[in-house]
Amino acid sequence: MTILVTGGAGFIGSNFILDWLSSRDERVINLDKLTYAGNIDNLRDVAQNGLHVLAQGDIGDRKLTDWLLALHRPRAVIHFAAESHVDRSIHGPGDFIQTNIVGTYNLLESVRAYWSELAGGEKNAFRFIHVSTDEVYGSLGDEDPAFTESKTYEPNSPYSASKAASDHLVRAWHHTYGLPVLTTNCSNNYGPYQFPEKLIPLVITNALSGKALPIYGDGMNVRDWLYVGDHCSAIREVLANGRIGETYNIGGWNEMPNIEIVRTICRILDRLRPDPDGPYERLISFVTDRPGHDRRYAIDARKVERELGWRPAETFATGIEKTVSWYLDNPEWVERVRTGDYREWVDRNYSQR
Ligand code: NAD
Ligand code: TYD
Repeated sequence: MTILVTGGAGFIGSNFILDWLSSRDERVINLDKLTYAGNIDNLRDVAQNGLHVLAQGDIGDRKLTDWLLALHRPRAVIHFAAESHVDRSIHGPGDFIQTNIVGTYNLLESVRAYWSELAGGEKNAFRFIHVSTDEVYGSLGDEDPAFTESKTYEPNSPYSASKAASDHLVRAWHHTYGLPVLTTNCSNNYGPYQFPEKLIPLVITNALSGKALPIYGDGMNVRDWLYVGDHCSAIREVLANGRIGETYNIGGWNEMPNIEIVRTICRILDRLRPDPDGPYERLISFVTDRPGHDRRYAIDARKVERELGWRPAETFATGIEKTVSWYLDNPEWVERVRTGDYREWVDRNYSQR
């Protein structure tokens, strides 16, 4: 049997493939455009594993998606591919519209054509898992209840608006055409192989090179952090046992303000890699806020627990310790991703703040 994963060279997709192949013999076709965020180095542990097949290409290329589906005949598609960084979406929303909306539309049409021709048993068993975000729900006030699956969509950034649009397309392809889809809306992930444009790897890698730790605004924006391995186990559970047409919120029950995240990382680094110049907190620097910065996200993950028995295995304390250790143990990975495009991005995003 075979599954097709899109965006499998990115942060979450590569963790998903590594976890998948560590415990199963089922082939994974990985359709990835290898944008700046796609890194084949993430998959070096399965480079010699014949069960991982990389197809470099765009989810918006209909000929390619039709051909891959016809050739490999997957029993499921797990759709991770997206432009995923809010700050980049503010600087240039075009790629987000193209990949997240038009690309998802193309993929849905391609999958629909493939699925509609499957024979009875295969057709019934087929699943399309759409991996989405809690950011589609908008921003919460301090006292608001956490997002449930019935929360209205109120996306505020070009990124979250494009993901919201893709969620709506996925929903419509189920209601109109009967495509067997399931959507997950997950909170902020962290863990190994995350590109250091996102808060946690940015702070770890900047601290290790003695650079400023930029905190937008007052540092009191709250996110609900989930270790990436837990997100992957939730997706496997939704794939195996989720109800078709449903959406599942996935979260870590771990709301924290950004400043607390940064201080926690500094304390771990002080212990694991003390800096002779003094505690890492001295590098914290408050910078101009992100335009339209959502104040708080919080996930109510009771539905996935009630229906599928899923809860995160890691606490923030255990997950962040593993994550910091991974970055300390993999300096060559960090070195390779922090070249070229990455340096231009850092100039564009931080030099004016
Ligand atoms: P990422 O940016 O690290 O990886 C995205 C991957 O998609 C890259 O490998 C990239 O090359 C590929 N890609 C981009 N455009 C493509 C295209 N047109 N065709 C084919 N491949 C393309 O993202 P991530 O953090 O791994 O997120 C994966 C998914 O999970 C996204 O859909 C994102 O919205 C969602 N999500 C992320 C988080 C998070 O905290 N990172 C939280 C919830 C949901
Ligand atoms: P990020 O990792 O970009 O994820 P998202 O915007 O999808 O939640 O940012 C997490 C939080 O950290 C968010 O509130 C913005 C903040 N942040 C900073 O304070 N400084 C930074 O340099 C970055 C990248 C993010």
